[in-house]
Amino acid sequence: MKATSLLESQHRRIEALLKQLESGVADHQALLGELADHLAAHMAIEQDIFYPAIKRVNDDLVNESYEEHALAEVALKRLLATAPEDDEFRARVIALKELLQHHLQEEEEELFPAVLGALDKDALEQLGQTMQQRFEVVLAGGYASVVPKGWSTTSADVSKQSSQRPARKGSHRPKNSRSAA
Ligand SMILES: [Fe+2]
Ligand SMILES: [Fe+2]
Repeated sequence: MKATSLLESQHRRIEALLKQLESGVADHQALLGELADHLAAHMAIEQDIFYPAIKRVNDDLVNESYEEHALAEVALKRLLATAPEDDEFRARVIALKELLQHHLQEEEEELFPAVLGALDKDALEQLGQTMQQRFEVVLAGGYASVVPKGWSTTSADVSKQSSQRPARKGSHRPKNSRSAA
């Protein structure tokens, strides 16, 4: 599957989970766990693989994307720390949804079309395959396998630093694993 198609299908899944959470009828704890794992894995493959591979296509938009991931991760952490019966729960679901709506729309309407214009079909398929494999590994490891504990550092910060290291030193590959929980 093309990288952009894979990411779009994951966007739809994330939106569906948020919609279910917002509706308030289902098992919040299970849904929230599923959302956290999917969102963390989706952001990880973008941060670790997709963004570094396509950064040259639109450097500003990729930098903005890392920042939006960082904010979404903080919003997700606040939600995970909230009991479903608290007044804040629904407000935090909606705040996360709105942050993500903006980010996913920007990716699909601005970043992905630029990527589709810049990479050929084989490169997009190869990138998609690499990301799919990594997604399954991260999803199996769960949210805590990629998201740092605490409030000061997000996985986006760790990933961005890691992907920039080889450019400065010129010889090291980006780390695939990072300390998390
Ligand atoms: Fe993203
Ligand atoms: Fe995305």
